[in-house]
Amino acid sequence: MDNISLEKQHAAIAATLLIKNGMTVGLGTGSTVTFFLNALAKRMRRENLSITGVTTSFKTEIIAQNLGIKIVDIDDVATIDLTIDGADEVDYDMNGIKGGGAAFLMEKIVANNSKRIVWIVDSQKVHLKLGLMPLPLEVVPFGSGKLMTELTKQHLYPTWRKKDGKLLVTDMGHYIVDLSLKTIDQPYELARYLDGKIGIVEHGLFLDIADEIIIGTTTGVEYLF
Ligand code: 5RP
Repeated sequence: MDNISLEKQHAAIAATLLIKNGMTVGLGTGSTVTFFLNALAKRMRRENLSITGVTTSFKTEIIAQNLGIKIVDIDDVATIDLTIDGADEVDYDMNGIKGGGAAFLMEKIVANNSKRIVWIVDSQKVHLKLGLMPLPLEVVPFGSGKLMTELTKQHLYPTWRKKDGKLLVTDMGHYIVDLSLKTIDQPYELARYLDGKIGIVEHGLFLDIADEIIIGTTTGVEYLF
């Protein structure tokens, strides 16, 4: 296993220790979360634990169900006790960019309904400032060409996200636009601008959302609180 995967696995295993019998758990999306789901399923079998999962993507739903984890609709639970999710980039203020896996709209809705949110990341994702990773926007297809023109005029460097040569369509039926910003000096100001734009359903800036970040290293884990 390469070092990045090893770090992801260390963070994922540490996160499984936060799960208690009977919890409703928000399940994020991505390769780090997949390590988490595998480790969690093992722990559930070993310790006879039972949890209910709320997923953030169809992909996670399939993985979790194949591992025997019970999945319910977000609207069928009163609350989500704890959500474990990955991130593409985090800073020391515990803000982050998510959406590399195109699931950030559902991830933000699940996070918004969770009592506690823990991100699991490898050490390469921790940066002083956000922006090195592209910032994704989930946009309504209708009028998205006009929106692209406006984002370009605002020097936000948008590009369509594609898969197999075609525009990627999210689980919720929208397109993804990635902003190549290099560095984001004013994340709150940018979030306010994007929140106010008609046609943008959600953006991948997750500010003041995580309660804890578990950073995998090659030898173990470190924590940001
Ligand atoms: C999906 C996400 C993922 O959490 C993020 O892309 C991290 O993925 P990985 O664990 O594969 O590095 O935000 O929308």
